[in-house]
Formats: sequence, structure tokens, C-alpha cells
Amino acid sequence: MSVQKQVRRITAPQITARKGGEPIVSLTSYHAHTAAIADEYVDFLLVGDSLGMVMHGFESTVPVHLDLMIMHGKAVVRGSARALVVVDMPFGSYEESPSAAFRNAVRVMKETDCGAVKLEGGRHMAETIEYLVARGIPVMAHVGLTPQSINVIGGFKTQGRTRDQWKAIEDDAKAVADAGAFAVVLEAMAEPLAARITKSISIPTIGIGASAECDGQILVMEDMLGLSPRVPKFVKEFGEVGKSIERAIKLYAEAVTDRSFPASENTYDVKD
Ligand code: KIV
Repeated sequence: MSVQKQVRRITAPQITARKGGEPIVSLTSYHAHTAAIADEYVDFLLVGDSLGMVMHGFESTVPVHLDLMIMHGKAVVRGSARALVVVDMPFGSYEESPSAAFRNAVRVMKETDCGAVKLEGGRHMAETIEYLVARGIPVMAHVGLTPQSINVIGGFKTQGRTRDQWKAIEDDAKAVADAGAFAVVLEAMAEPLAARITKSISIPTIGIGASAECDGQILVMEDMLGLSPRVPKFVKEFGEVGKSIERAIKLYAEAVTDRSFPASENTYDVKD
């Protein structure tokens, strides 16, 4: 009889329970194979709409549509067993009304089997967050720099660099916490502001370009692997995967050109 070890997935409430405790580790993932590698080391995997830029070559996340998120969400759920999988709601799929957001979030949850969704926005999204949570959908919020609003903001600009901007951002973080979000991403904001928000709200803050004081951290996996051509200042490259891929491809091209590949160990002989 084979005994299979049952791996239990981390849940959204378990992430909330980590407020003020052991830091929450997370990364983006868009495919089954990176999800499988990261699964053991992260608490949640975010199928971020950054996949539009990282994987599909768009200039921003604005063109990303729901079907694309669902396709990548399915792959990440298939590749992982332990980490909570959170799927981003793309631009245009949730802003119109709470009921439109519910319809699209239900599609994401049913079709991918993920454990939660994420959406961008503060006070103006609080009603929608409350509506989704009351109907069984765990929501991670996202305030500070919200890349889906790039055309209104005018660029990928760090938020809260002057103190007169702080109150609005703090009010956003408090509003999404009060609305029932299980955690909130703080993206690209002045370090003391992120630390202050972390101290003042009841749900975990997940920093990206924010503060080491946040309850957890997230990075785009390709950025921290050293696979992205350009990375923002707040990224630390923990690997040199881009260089390693290029080296391997160059060696392969040379081997094909000088006919040293395939060698005899890579070919099949006749059996008789
Ligand atoms: O889309 C994404 O990858 C994100 C992270 C940067 C938090 O939202």
C-alpha cells in the first residue's frame, strides 16, 4: 500500500494570523515549474498581473485580461502544493461595481482553484472588498503605487516621498483593513511611511520597495533571479539566471555548429 503524504495548503486566515510574527515570504510566479521550485520556501505565490510585462512584453499591466490571468493561475496551482496561491484581478475586471468584481473573482477562484484574489486600490475599493469577503472570496489589497493606474499617475512613481501625501495613503491602508482584506501589499513607498502603516493596521503588510518593517516581502521572481533586463532600485538580484541561460544557449549553439552535439550518448542505435 502506498502512503501519500497529504500537504495542506496555507490559507488566507493563516497569513492574517502572522501579523507581527515571523515574516511572510512571497514571490510572484506565472508558471508550473517556478511554482514547484518556490513552493517549499514561500508562504504565498502571487500570480501577479506583472506577467503582462515580464512574460508577454507589454509596457504596463493595463493590457492584461482575465483569461490570461486564469491561464497562468491554473499553471501555478498545478505546480504548487503548499503555498497559498493568490491571483491578481486585472485592470477592468473589478472596478465597475462590486457585483461585476464578484462575477469575475468567482471565475478566477472556480477556474484556477486558487485560494484568494488581489486587487489594487484603497478607500474607493473598500466597498468592493467588503462585498467579496462577505461572499466567500479572500481579498489581498494593494496600495501605494498601483501600477494599473499608471496612466492617471503618469509613471511608476514612488509614493509618500513628501509627508503631505501620507494621510491619504494611510487612510487607504486602514480602509482596506477595515473592509476585511486579509493582507495588503504596500508598493513603492517611502520607508518610514510603510513602517508606520505596518504598526497602525491590524492586517499583515507585504512590502515591495517599502520597508523591512513590513510583516512580509514580495518580489517579482524574474527580477530577484537576475532574469529581467532592468530592475527597479528596490530589487536585490539574488541570482544570475539570465547570464546562466545565455551561457548555456551559447554553448549549445557552438556544439551544434561544430557538430559535437548530438554526441553518441545522445543518439539511439538500432536494436538488432
Ligand atoms: O503584479 C504583481 O506582480 C504585483 C506585485 C508587484 C505585488 O502586484
